[in-house]
Amino acid sequence: MCGIIAYYGDELAAPILLEGLKRLEYRGYDSAGIVTIDSKSEFQIKKDIGKVLEIHERLNLMDLEGTTGIAHTRWATHGGVTRENAHPQISNNNKIAVIHNGIIENYKELKAKLISEGFQFSSETDTEVVPNLIEYWMRIRGLDFVHAVFNSFQSLEGNFALVVLDRDSKTIVGSKNGSPLVLGIGQNNDFFLASDIPAFLDKTKDVVYLYDGDTVIITGSSGAKRSYEILDFRTGNPVDRLIQSVSWDIEHAAKGEFDHFMLKEISEQVETIQSAASQDREKIQDIIQRIKKARGVFLIGCGSSFHACLSASYLFSKLASFHVNAVLASEFSAYEDFLKEDTLVIAVTQSGETIDVLDAIKTAKQKGCQIVSIVNVMGSSATQFADESLFLNVGPEVSVLSTKTYTAQLAVLTLLAFSLAGKYEEGLRRLKYLWNIVYNLTAESMRIRIKQLADELSSHDHIFVLGRGSLYATALEAALKIKEVSYIHAEAFAGGELKHGPISLIGKGTPCIVFVSKDTESKILSNAMEVKSRGGYLIGVGSHKIDTFDEFVKVPESEELNPISQIIPIQILSYQLAVILGHDPDRPRNLAKSVTVR
Ligand code: F6R
Repeated sequence: MCGIIAYYGDELAAPILLEGLKRLEYRGYDSAGIVTIDSKSEFQIKKDIGKVLEIHERLNLMDLEGTTGIAHTRWATHGGVTRENAHPQISNNNKIAVIHNGIIENYKELKAKLISEGFQFSSETDTEVVPNLIEYWMRIRGLDFVHAVFNSFQSLEGNFALVVLDRDSKTIVGSKNGSPLVLGIGQNNDFFLASDIPAFLDKTKDVVYLYDGDTVIITGSSGAKRSYEILDFRTGNPVDRLIQSVSWDIEHAAKGEFDHFMLKEISEQVETIQSAASQDREKIQDIIQRIKKARGVFLIGCGSSFHACLSASYLFSKLASFHVNAVLASEFSAYEDFLKEDTLVIAVTQSGETIDVLDAIKTAKQKGCQIVSIVNVMGSSATQFADESLFLNVGPEVSVLSTKTYTAQLAVLTLLAFSLAGKYEEGLRRLKYLWNIVYNLTAESMRIRIKQLADELSSHDHIFVLGRGSLYATALEAALKIKEVSYIHAEAFAGGELKHGPISLIGKGTPCIVFVSKDTESKILSNAMEVKSRGGYLIGVGSHKIDTFDEFVKVPESEELNPISQIIPIQILSYQLAVILGHDPDRPRNLAKSVTVR
């Protein structure tokens, strides 16, 4: 996954693009680059490996001239992390610049064809074929820029969001096909294209959500003459899209007083759980009817979103005596034969762009299934495929790790489970009341307490996590949080499974976090005793201290809502571990915010 930002207007482009890159860095941070068109109609390009600010310190990205430009932050897929592989990629005749998010699957054939036409390549990327294909259609086949772009895009296979800058006609074309791209309309008839709205949120809140095939053409260099049109690159036909206003503020996309977005987003949960629970009641009832009518309901997601699905599957069963299948989206194709027209698939995805989720949705759609999406990012691909969508309403999540969106997903799913049991009011009331508990869990005093625990745990190579029932899903999520940001190996087990093998891993001092709730207490505590009697070091998370625990984190009992509250101290622990171990909590190695590759 990579981040794209483009600007076309009267202001200096470089500062706008640099700011946009900083806000998009969660999408990729191994290299970055900017290209603008200067007053002599020449390209000015700067790109390098490293994080955006490191590159800026080395190269000064602000001093590029011109009011039109495109910029990119990369998460390497094809080709290593080198300056040559960083974007923008430029055509052989130095007239076409391209930035790209996604994968062009047939790039090898296209590259071979271009090489046979005399083109040379300087990078290992799939992207470099695009500017050269456009040059081919213009220089060798005599097409104008826009037709050359359309012809080129029609020959691409795979997922992409592409933005192309033509030096001579000073035109920007941006196209979406399976990867996100949104158009921003500025106050001064200036335009933005970006992978995500926060990239230009300080400039405008007016956006056009683009759909697959949509291709935006921005021309007319100055003031009133500037305009855009949207065509479908597959057919060449014009497309009409609404301009919509987003409710997010720029503060949502800034760190404020916090050192890292991760801590900011953990702290925001006092409010975000409330906003996630504030859903349109009619929409909830509509989804409940779909669930009741369906013969077979799947909850699908990846990573943390899958953990939210798994947690909810326990709740649906316990609260509403309703069976749902929680399935990893990447494994969903194995269930294809069970899909019928009356199957309902509920896709849970923060970004709405995870390719494994989109593949699963497409499979289900082909079988005629109904799709409901639970999504944070409005206008994202998942919402475009879904028959109905519920939004998390928690603002952008910038840190790569899911924190506030995970608890928001749980809040929405919990509300659905209560509603399915005919207890919508009770569910809403309980979720709103959780505010009190979350307030204390995210307070400074809790951070200080957890910091002590993190100091103790930071020297360990392994941490185990135990839970039962819906808290087994919490254990999986806790282990994921710890390992992805601290790089300490963390592994979760259902309490009852310990004795079936994993207990052989427990030795003297092995840390083991145990989630305890009223309904699982007696069984999980006997599992904890099994750990203790083999020398393990127990960290209990629950409503009251038990003598067996070496460490204890108090989280008041919230019954069905325990999965929402109990994960919060472990989110903080993961954050503290990363800071103590000198890792960047917002940008863990090898990870990207939304995974658009298979
Ligand atoms: C973990 C994390 C990932 C995502 C997963 C799915 O902190 O963020 O595991 O949960 O990549 O992403 P979405 O929800 O965007 O589909």
